[in-house]
Parts: sequence; structure tokens; C-alpha cells
Amino acid sequence: MSSSVKHLALLCAGMVIAAGTFAYGAEPGYYGYGERATPEQIAGWDIDARGEDGVGLPAGRGGVIRGAEVYAEQCAACHGTFGEGEGRFPKLVGGAGTLRDDRPELTVGSYWPFAPTLWDYINRAMPMAAPHTLSADDVYALTAYILNLNDLVPSEFVADRESLPKVKMPNRDNFLWTDPRPDTAAKPCMSACVDPASVKIVSTAEGKNLTPRTTGPLDTMQAK
Ligand code: HEC
Repeated sequence: MSSSVKHLALLCAGMVIAAGTFAYGAEPGYYGYGERATPEQIAGWDIDARGEDGVGLPAGRGGVIRGAEVYAEQCAACHGTFGEGEGRFPKLVGGAGTLRDDRPELTVGSYWPFAPTLWDYINRAMPMAAPHTLSADDVYALTAYILNLNDLVPSEFVADRESLPKVKMPNRDNFLWTDPRPDTAAKPCMSACVDPASVKIVSTAEGKNLTPRTTGPLDTMQAK
């Protein structure tokens, strides 16, 4: 080995050891880059409202009439004046009783299990070209309007963090809240999960000729 190659090898080995030491001794901030997220920054990301019980919904309220106004300005161009959908943009209304059809119509009214999820979705994603531009009150108002278009709440309904979780969505009971498959009931296991003595390999990909051993060009492998 020439001396410069030897030096390079030593340098590389040194770097590997150093990298290992860094990784194992790591404390937050240890690497000298990045910074701790401030509570305000975390709040900016932590915006989810839980469907089932509305946990995470903010203060604020909005009714159907105000919702109709905002909707006409900001949503109707794509979703249609009454939620019927323009062109190929999604319908927000209708589809009741179609879920078992060959072409089911999945809408807020026919499919969604929880009303708070509607607030969450609009708040995080709509209007499509300018998400995060609506006030909490206007998102509540839009939610009230779309629920009203689906005949799920009366026109005097006011959406807020108390009222939304109480709206019973028509398809709610058709979602499964526990997973009945036996293999999902097992307790999660983090170490010594399987006794190796109990494992018997009965088949391999190689045995099925799925993993060609040849390193030749692709066509040689395919010919085999
Ligand atoms: C530029 C067109 C456009 C505008 C404007 C727009 N949306 Fe949407 N919206 C979409 C598209 C496209 C989707 C489907 C997105 C996806 O599935 O990823 C969607 C999805 C939705 C959904 C979910 C539908 C479902 O059942 O999956 C809701 C609810 C919704 N929009 C509400 C609104 C509201 C409320 C506004 C007005 C504040 C709005 N949208 C404005 C294009 C638009």
C-alpha cells in the first residue's frame, strides 16, 4: 500500500469512528445545527382536530348563512354552488345510498364518519390554491354550510367545538373501530419477539427461482 493510500485509509477509519461516537453520544442540539422548535412553531404544525370527539378544534363559531357567503366566493367555482361539483372537481353533497353500488359516490354526506374532520380538512387544505387563509370562524361557517347542504343540520345551526362532535354523520356506524383480524390483536413486541428455535423456514424466494443468481445482462436472466 502506498503511503498516501494508507493515510487515506486511516483517515476514513477515523471518520467512521468519529461518526459512530457522534451518533451514540447525541443529545438534542449536539450537532450544532438546527434549533429547538418554539411553542409557537409547534402550535403552527399541531392543527389537527380529532374526528371522533373534536379534540383540537379551536375557539370560534360560524353559521350556515355566513358559510354560504364564503362558499360562494371561495369554493363554488370548483365544488359547485350547492356542492354538486364542477367538472371533475369533487362533489361535497349527495351520494346517499350509493356506497354499495358499482360506482359509489363518496361525499361528505354519504361517506365521512365525523363532522369535526370536515372542519379539519377545510382548515388544512382548502381553498385549494390558498390553504390556511381562512379564519377559524369562516371554517366553522363553511362546515355548517356543507353539513346543511347535505341536510344533516338545520339552517340555524351554528358550528363550534361543542356542536360539531354531536352531529351524527349517516355513515358513521359503517366504519369498524376495532380491527378484527387475529394477527393485529397481538401485543407489540420490541425485543426477543420470536424464539428462533420455533422458526422453521419452509420456502425461500431462491427456491422459487424468484431471485436469479446470474449477474449477466438482463436478457440472459430472463431467458433462464
Ligand atoms: C381550485 C379548485 C378548488 C377550490 C377553489 C376549492 N376546492 Fe375543495 N377540493 C378541490 C380538489 C381538487 C379536492 C380533492 C383533493 C384531493 O382529493 O386530494 C377538493 C376536496 C375538498 C373536500 C374533500 C372532499 C372529499 O369528500 O374528499 C372538501 C370538504 C373541500 N374540498 C372543501 C372546499 C371548501 C370549503 C372550499 C372553499 C373554501 C374549497 N374546497 C375550495 C378543489 C377545490
